[in-house]
Amino acid sequence: MATHQVGIIMNGVTGRMGTNQHLIRSIVAIRKQGGILLHNGDTIMPDPVLVGRQESKLQDLAQKHGITRVSTDLDACLADPYNVIYFDSQTTVRRAEAIKQAIAAGKHIYCEKPTATDLDASMELARLARQAGVKNGVVQDKLFLPGLIKLKRLVDSGFFGRILSVRMEFGYWVFEGDWQPGQRPSWNYRKEDGGGIIVDMFAHWRYVLDNLFGEVKSVSCLGVTHVPERWDEKGERYEATADDAAYATFELEGGIVVQANSSWTTRVNRDDLLTIHVDGTDGSAVAGLRDCKAQHRVHTPKPTWNPDIENPFKFIEQWDDVPGNQVFDNGFKIQWELFLKHIVLDTPFPWDLLEGAKGTQLADLGLQSWAERRWVDVPKLSL
Ligand SMILES: NC(=O)c1ccc[n+]([C@@H]2O[C@H](COP(=O)([O-])OP(=O)(O)OC[C@H]3O[C@@H](n4cnc5c(N)ncnc54)[C@H](O)[C@@H]3O)[C@@H](O)[C@H]2O)c1
Repeated sequence: MATHQVGIIMNGVTGRMGTNQHLIRSIVAIRKQGGILLHNGDTIMPDPVLVGRQESKLQDLAQKHGITRVSTDLDACLADPYNVIYFDSQTTVRRAEAIKQAIAAGKHIYCEKPTATDLDASMELARLARQAGVKNGVVQDKLFLPGLIKLKRLVDSGFFGRILSVRMEFGYWVFEGDWQPGQRPSWNYRKEDGGGIIVDMFAHWRYVLDNLFGEVKSVSCLGVTHVPERWDEKGERYEATADDAAYATFELEGGIVVQANSSWTTRVNRDDLLTIHVDGTDGSAVAGLRDCKAQHRVHTPKPTWNPDIENPFKFIEQWDDVPGNQVFDNGFKIQWELFLKHIVLDTPFPWDLLEGAKGTQLADLGLQSWAERRWVDVPKLSL
């Protein structure tokens, strides 16, 4: 029974996503559970080296989580053959250059979305990885959320009949930073630093829609910067140059109509930060991050419009919970485990840099639609 040690360069690991989701909830959690146990009794043990600019910060993080390797020298980490994976969760604008360097060094690539800030750069990464023959993957965490797994189960079972439409509401109030600190990094609100809700969230919407309902064929999008000034991590005022809300409509194959509101400037009055409402001829469902409720056509009440009387229906209570029927682990961790198995066992891993580029493509076309105030079709991408 062998242990497969897998050296991973983790760059951007001191950031919000890097620390919480990728290091603590994924790699450290996998190490704590004794690695990934394989069918033949072998285990895969990820062995990260934490890479960044500030040695003391990296040492702190490493010590807290039982990691021994840290480095401020990315070139040296890339030159070390022990490290076989390069992982990147830096700010989006920094990702493409670092990945190109890692591909040139022959490393397998795993990274956060979006893979780059524009389609050309995202496609270049996919092409370079293909040419170099390195394995590659992009985070598509929403697919592994319990609520979306339950929703996918409904789709796969044929519960909806013909799916007609989907309404997605995503967002919450992100504080401006003056009288209460903002809960997201300030670069998200500066276009010149890779910010903007379209670049950020359309990368998610692409794989969510493609995987659950059908390929996105066309987009109409209106972006807005509702809050024009914010205060950064140092309390300094800055101009918010990036879109903080996007009001989009997508057409999917099969004629499914999707309305998607994405906003950092809305206050939540719904079950979750993301809700996906699906209407089909035979039934409807609403999924959040963890829960999913459904209403079949035979359970559908027949309300009539009459504001002159008290509403006799408790609409919210007329839905049934979709049961979990399984244990749900952290979505980032599940995808890490699949990627590590892909590296060691060559098992399939469909969420590659080309799939990641599709997310950037949808963001680019959303921005184009907004700029030109028109519908834009989504061309097929191939390498
Ligand atoms: N999958 C998701 O749900 C999800 C959610 C949020 C963010 N993200 C993505 O994750 C990435 C990181 O986002 P975040 O919120 O963690 O950002 P963050 O600002 O908290 O972290 C950014 C990281 O990049 C590093 N970095 C920044 N400038 C650098 C420089 N000049 N040199 C070297 N390192 C530098 C920082 O040290 C930090 O480690 C973004 O691409 C974002 O789009 C994904």
